[in-house]
Amino acid sequence: MSKSVPSKSLTPPAIQARKGGQPIVCMTSYTAPVTKLIDPHVDLILVGDSLAMTVYGMTSTVGVTQEMMIAHGGAVARSASHACVVVDLPFGSYEESPAQAFRTAARVMAETGCAAVKLEGGAVMAETIHFLTGRGIPVMAHIGLTPQTVNALGGYGVRGRTEAEAAAIMADAKAVADAGAFSVVIEKTTESLARAITNAIAPPTIGIGASVACDGQILVVDDMIGLFTDFHPKFVRRYAEVAQSIEAAIRDYASDVRERRFPAAEHVFGDARP
Ligand code: KIV
Repeated sequence: MSKSVPSKSLTPPAIQARKGGQPIVCMTSYTAPVTKLIDPHVDLILVGDSLAMTVYGMTSTVGVTQEMMIAHGGAVARSASHACVVVDLPFGSYEESPAQAFRTAARVMAETGCAAVKLEGGAVMAETIHFLTGRGIPVMAHIGLTPQTVNALGGYGVRGRTEAEAAAIMADAKAVADAGAFSVVIEKTTESLARAITNAIAPPTIGIGASVACDGQILVVDDMIGLFTDFHPKFVRRYAEVAQSIEAAIRDYASDVRERRFPAAEHVFGDARP
């Protein structure tokens, strides 16, 4: 079912207006049940293409399709009533031209009911961000480490440690801000660069591995609840160890079935009474 008019109480302009105020709380989500748990507590939910790793067992976000983002984006948008829902545009679906980006973003918004889209890239995407925002599509930008271009970057290392790289990322930040992005994700940069960017641009910055200097923070839900355990990035604080709880529950269930302790009397249907 498509839902083309967003009815969230927090809109992209409301998020933008939070610049410099109370920190903006953001998290990823990919499914309806997790969204229902997250929604009352956060300001913005990102249906991130990190679902490549957290849901689909891929090793990077490069193979994510529009269909995957739309299926998960719809589940999340239908389940959130408070937070601003943003859906990632996948690799290859927007970089070719502003017109290609508009077609993809319009489809994603119409078929999911999300309030905005996110795309990766700085100065090189400024023309596209200007094109989209001028045509009614709110855009969250994403600079610093941009995982969709991991093959060109050569890995997932910290960005902006050299003067030249820091200057380029600052230029990216100014370009996407001037182009009309309502917020800017800064991923895995030094604290001093994140602070300088936050002070330099009008839209709020949302950090992931970019220090407390940002206007808000985002984490991948599976990382912070300890469900995705293949690796533990330095910038993630684990607030729960859900994988351990799931494993313990499955172990107990398996043992109950093998020992005929499950199903018990309360799980069994008796004969029909006349
Ligand atoms: O895909 C994602 O989850 C993201 C966040 C890490 C910002 O882009």
